Amino acid sequence: MQEIEKITYSTEWYDTLVSDCKTIIDKAKTDIGVRLLRAKWNLGDKIVPNYNRFERAEYGNKTQKDFAKELELKQQEISNVIRFRKKIGDNFDLWLESTDISVLSWYNIVHGWLPKKKRNHPQIIEFSITPKFSDNVIQTDIQNGLDYVSENSVDLILTDPPYAEASLDLWSELGKFAAYSLKPSKLLVSYSGKAFLPEVYKRLSEHLQYIWTIALVHTDNKRTCYHALHIFERWKPILIFAKPPFTPNEYFEDVVKGAGREKELHAHAQAETEAEHIITQFTKENHFVIDPFCGSGTVLVAAHKLNRKFLGFDIDAEAIKTSLWRLQNEKNL
Ligand SMILES: C[S@@+](CC[C@H](N)C(=O)[O-])C[C@H]1O[C@@H](n2cnc3c(N)ncnc32)[C@H](O)[C@@H]1O
Repeated sequence: MQEIEKITYSTEWYDTLVSDCKTIIDKAKTDIGVRLLRAKWNLGDKIVPNYNRFERAEYGNKTQKDFAKELELKQQEISNVIRFRKKIGDNFDLWLESTDISVLSWYNIVHGWLPKKKRNHPQIIEFSITPKFSDNVIQTDIQNGLDYVSENSVDLILTDPPYAEASLDLWSELGKFAAYSLKPSKLLVSYSGKAFLPEVYKRLSEHLQYIWTIALVHTDNKRTCYHALHIFERWKPILIFAKPPFTPNEYFEDVVKGAGREKELHAHAQAETEAEHIITQFTKENHFVIDPFCGSGTVLVAAHKLNRKFLGFDIDAEAIKTSLWRLQNEKNL
């Protein structure tokens, strides 16, 4: 009987492919949006030419399963990447130019690429705008905020917690968080409602030194009514507390003219220009600004525009998405 010639294959190409793909995946994990999609396309581009070989397990003993295992990806993800590459075609840049897709949709596409069990993971760190612990937005309760910051590392906390009576405990959490994370003499500047101010002052004073209250005067003609007490509100307090010992720095005015309503992105959004004014007043370039109740990301966007490092927390996934979307737009990706 005629002997069938056995063909042996070198698997050197396989090792190179694995190490190249690993680099692409690492890059993808620390980035977002277009760059992440480009990485996904690149990965597909690497895999597609070899795909048939994997399917037939023809080379050495390596299969698509082995490949997925070595890249710590699911086989399904590899199939997704290949499908994505085929859908986009041979030229990612051309596709990018011709496509008309919003940044939020980018986010959703990228989100969909994650393995299912990670999609609702409380930290969207995979989508972080690198590096992890600054220039980032994290979905977390402020109670866990200390996990993401170092002691004495923050130059300004500018924030806007919920004002309701049921949320008063959050002011205690904020006080604790500020006392740990602020550098000595640095400030917590917080918008506040007026109905429970005595309690708010008390809770913050348990952890910080009271400095002053700024009046943010509403300049638009729309009236906000506090119906319980029949009051038309025309101003909002901005509370200033410091981590002691406090040394006064530049002079600041204690009345700020409001920039009007900017509530399209979040029902309680504050104006970007007001945040810019406060950040400019109390920090310098490269200083680290945190908003632990970031909502739609107003403070983060303002900090980014002014070349400050920033970090935002919010408990609400939609708020995190909106913040990421705004920051991505800012970065012109
Ligand atoms: C008044 S809004 C902030 C709006 C923000 N200044 C803006 O411009 O969009 C308060 C935010 O606090 C968030 N929040 C409520 N409880 C929280 C908690 N325990 N930890 C972190 N964020 C929380 C809410 O989801 C909400 O987005």
